[in-house]
Amino acid sequence: MENPVELRGMDDFTFAELPTTRELLVITSTTGDGEPPDNGAAFWRALSADSAPHLADTRYAVLALGDSNYDDFCSHGRKLDERLAELGGTRIRGRVDCEPDYEDAAAGWLGDVLHQLTRTAAMRTAPLRPASRPTPQKYTKKRPLVTSLVRNTTLSQPRSAKDVRQLVFDLPEETVSYEAGDALGVWPRNGKPLVDEWLTVTGLDPESEVEVSSQGSMTSMPLRDALTDHFEIAHISPDLLRFVQQRTSDANAAAELAELMRPKNKAALADWTWGRQSVDLLGQCKLNASVDEWLSVLKPLQPRLYSISSSPKESPREVHLTVSPVRYNFRGVPRRGVCSTYLADRSPSDQIAVYVRRSSNFRPPSDPSTPMIMIGPGTGIAPFRGFLQERRALGHTGGNWLFFGEQHAATDFYYRDEIQAMHADGLLTELDLAFSRDQREKVYVQHLMRKRGAQLWRWLQDGAQLYVCGTADPMAKDVDRAICEIVAEHGRLDADAARAYVQSLSADKRYHRDVY
Ligand SMILES: Cc1cc2nc3c(=O)[nH]c(=O)nc-3n(C[C@H](O)[C@H](O)[C@H](O)COP(=O)(O)OP(=O)(O)OC[C@H]3O[C@@H](n4cnc5c(N)ncnc54)[C@H](O)[C@@H]3O)c2cc1C
Ligand SMILES: NC(=O)c1ccc[n+]([C@@H]2O[C@H](COP(=O)([O-])OP(=O)(O)OC[C@H]3O[C@@H](n4cnc5c(N)ncnc54)[C@H](OP(=O)(O)O)[C@@H]3O)[C@@H](O)[C@H]2O)c1
Repeated sequence: MENPVELRGMDDFTFAELPTTRELLVITSTTGDGEPPDNGAAFWRALSADSAPHLADTRYAVLALGDSNYDDFCSHGRKLDERLAELGGTRIRGRVDCEPDYEDAAAGWLGDVLHQLTRTAAMRTAPLRPASRPTPQKYTKKRPLVTSLVRNTTLSQPRSAKDVRQLVFDLPEETVSYEAGDALGVWPRNGKPLVDEWLTVTGLDPESEVEVSSQGSMTSMPLRDALTDHFEIAHISPDLLRFVQQRTSDANAAAELAELMRPKNKAALADWTWGRQSVDLLGQCKLNASVDEWLSVLKPLQPRLYSISSSPKESPREVHLTVSPVRYNFRGVPRRGVCSTYLADRSPSDQIAVYVRRSSNFRPPSDPSTPMIMIGPGTGIAPFRGFLQERRALGHTGGNWLFFGEQHAATDFYYRDEIQAMHADGLLTELDLAFSRDQREKVYVQHLMRKRGAQLWRWLQDGAQLYVCGTADPMAKDVDRAICEIVAEHGRLDADAARAYVQSLSADKRYHRDVY
């Protein structure tokens, strides 16, 4: 008998099916502090509960996606793998933990799994139906579209503490298509000042020829070019920290780093790393290493994601972003985020390598009459401009409610004219603005949500979809807490029942988050 292969998002998998699922392949990312991605939260709650079923008849394999720049590398994949074993499942093959350049490791894992499954299937004389493959995208993370910047406009007003930009890219016909809610991946280059400083603190010769893996083959180039285009030289990864700790000639610094790296000091390490770049560490902890040793410890440079702020219904040949450049001082020295300032420094007609990252869980409602509530302080507003343009172009009649917040109304109300016009013409049914620093006491979006709790609850009762975008911590956590409190108060539920209601909104795909 044929064995059908089904591909499901974790939120499309009914947990009751698990004990009768004979073969289970799990592919998962990890978010936040070792947590499941939003669409895997309900599956994990059920799997980790005391009432989880025994899985003696289940064979499984886990592919974990992550980034060892983060402390809890692939930890949700690891937890799933361990829990499935604890419940009696049998591994088809061991878990594989993947870095952002996951292709080879994932292909190896899939090859082994297929080999094991087809071998078993052959023993049962059951042919396996090949899984249907989605049509490959023409432009991908590994083969990005190199396209022109069309506009780089400052959205903040002159006296703002921020310098938020709208960046518009050209999408030539038959290259890349996107949907409202998708994100754009941008391949940055490290700026010259950072590369110079890194070369100074390591004492390496910028002209020395090095071999670099690029687009699947090895290429030789001067070290300076390799550092500019291929290596992550700003971040302090756990591997870099270990390398410096083991190799520095400064015994005091080595002892201090060893203490920070102890598992119990995870929070202190995160505090210490925040705002420090590798040049800050290397300037303090002197060490001698060859160019090959340095390159073996550096991670490959990775693209950054930005929520798309336009709708293809209004701008089919352009993609718009809303970017807040990261600029701050570390101990009096100006420091810059790699990609956000690379973008802010670009001019029209500059060529930039980009690709579309689909966000199938973050789309405006498909039903024309479904109400939508959008909570997007700061750059969190980005996708909601695209959502509103999309609904306008489609003639959707459902209510639209936006909560936006920034520091000051006078300087930080991005897209003010567009949003006010949408409010005036009724596309935006409700608009609540939290300008945090325009009064003595801070006002945040969640304060306004609580104030308007009764109406927000009515919208939820009317089937509204809820969307949150912006910083994951603390904003999205505080907003989530506010939603639970509003549900408890206006739905007259106790705290546990309110939490369960909010979880059911996620499970029913009515509560979506795109947070970073
Ligand atoms: C799905 C998704 C969508 C996103 N959408 C947007 C968007 O629409 N707009 C947007 O602007 N960003 C967005 N981001 C964030 C974006 O991807 C980058 O993370 C951000 O631009 C910073 O990248 P960078 O390369 O400039 O900084 P990096 O070089 O990666 O540096 C970041 C580091 O800088 C330090 N740092 C940052 N801020 C401070 C500070 N205030 N004080 C001290 N140190 C600090 C910290 O050490 C931090 O780890 C999104 C992220 C995701 C995952
Ligand atoms: N250092 C930099 O130069 C720089 C520049 C841009 C972005 N970034 C980083 O990029 C990320 C996104 O920044 P952003 O520009 O989108 O805006 P943001 O920093 O998230 O701020 C947007 C608005 O949200 C408010 N806010 C702060 N904490 C909140 C909370 N817990 N709940 C609800 N609202 C809250 C802010 O108020 P208050 O600010 O008044 O508290 C502000 O009014 C942040 O992580 C930020 O650190 C850094």
